[in-house]
Amino acid sequence: MASIASSAAALRLPALLASTCTSSCRALSGSASTMALAQMPRVAAAHLNPVAGFVGAIGNTPLIRLNKLSEETGCDILGKAEFMQPGGSVKDRAALFVVKDAEEKGLIKPGGTIVEGTAGNTGIGLAHVCRSKGYKCVIYMPNTQSQEKIDLLRMLGAEVHPVPAVAFDNSENYNHQARRHAERLDNAVWTNQFDNTANRRAHIETTGPEIWEQTDGGKLDGFICATGTGGTLAGTTRYLKEKSGGKIKCWLADPPGSVLHSYIQSGGKLMERQGGSITEGIGQGRVTENLKPDIGLLDGSLHIPDEESIKMVYRCLDEEGIYIGASSALNVVAATQMAQKLGKGSRIVTILCDGAYRYQARLFSRKWLESKGLVNAIPEHLQKYIVLN
Ligand SMILES: Cc1ncc(COP(=O)(O)O)c(C=O)c1O
Repeated sequence: MASIASSAAALRLPALLASTCTSSCRALSGSASTMALAQMPRVAAAHLNPVAGFVGAIGNTPLIRLNKLSEETGCDILGKAEFMQPGGSVKDRAALFVVKDAEEKGLIKPGGTIVEGTAGNTGIGLAHVCRSKGYKCVIYMPNTQSQEKIDLLRMLGAEVHPVPAVAFDNSENYNHQARRHAERLDNAVWTNQFDNTANRRAHIETTGPEIWEQTDGGKLDGFICATGTGGTLAGTTRYLKEKSGGKIKCWLADPPGSVLHSYIQSGGKLMERQGGSITEGIGQGRVTENLKPDIGLLDGSLHIPDEESIKMVYRCLDEEGIYIGASSALNVVAATQMAQKLGKGSRIVTILCDGAYRYQARLFSRKWLESKGLVNAIPEHLQKYIVLN
């Protein structure tokens, strides 16, 4: 029942309607039914009334038309403003759902400990959710991450363990260390964001319905975004595909260093990894449990080089007044390319995952950009925004 109440709070729905939404959406994660979706209640587009605590403020983010890019392409390029989440990123949704899932399954009791392996945003979302619900939070992360993220997690009360960055198949990988830490404690759970499908369910139950509602009942031609765990792409794709009877095209956007573009282009035969990327939180070396049920629904994929992504960070700032991180900028580049491929007048939605605040010491530092060979990717008239040394 707790989940229904908090779902109602998050979506601003009466509890009865929310329970219809929750159960019909849940049915989707198995064999999805368009009928079930058709019966779903409408989702409010904004928080108009007081909400119940931090978790009540998660979701219902604005859908922003990127005006310059829309005019330039003759299309509608729409960005879901996840940087406006209370914890600052799209991962607040997944954080809430994995904690609710653990509560519903009786895996955690009041005063317990949530343990997760995360490079950043999920940990920050979890740290907020844990504070608001009275749980302890333990985070394992690769020691390559920025000091700002470690500091923020500690300020939010999390116990942070930066550990050597080793591959997933090494038992010292941060995810395996997180699992073992939870196993050693009483009343503790490893929320396992990569393979716990409560993550994907967050987007079936919230992101997808919000986009549908905000586009006047699904008046859109395409949805595209990059993946880390795959929860956002998989869950949103599942919802939009089912609700539109397969009409809305759903594509993956992929950074260098990820295997998923080659996987989709080769019809599942190849998993080629080339190079690395300055983007954080995205790029994947395997098909996670979150992505597995929905990867077959995808209609295509685009590979976006870092040069394009960094240029778009600066363009969004200058032309749209929007301060977004590199994964969001990659998504905007991809949405623009998808719009051009689908033709004039098409309407595309993407995800603005988080703000640039978490990366500004890198993205706006001349030294850092030079070290990555990216200064020249930024048009000369935009280089005035490189204000850090
Ligand atoms: C900045 C950023 N963008 C995008 C994503 C990808 O979201 P998902 O894990 O739902 O695929 C993440 C995930 O951590 C992220 O931190």
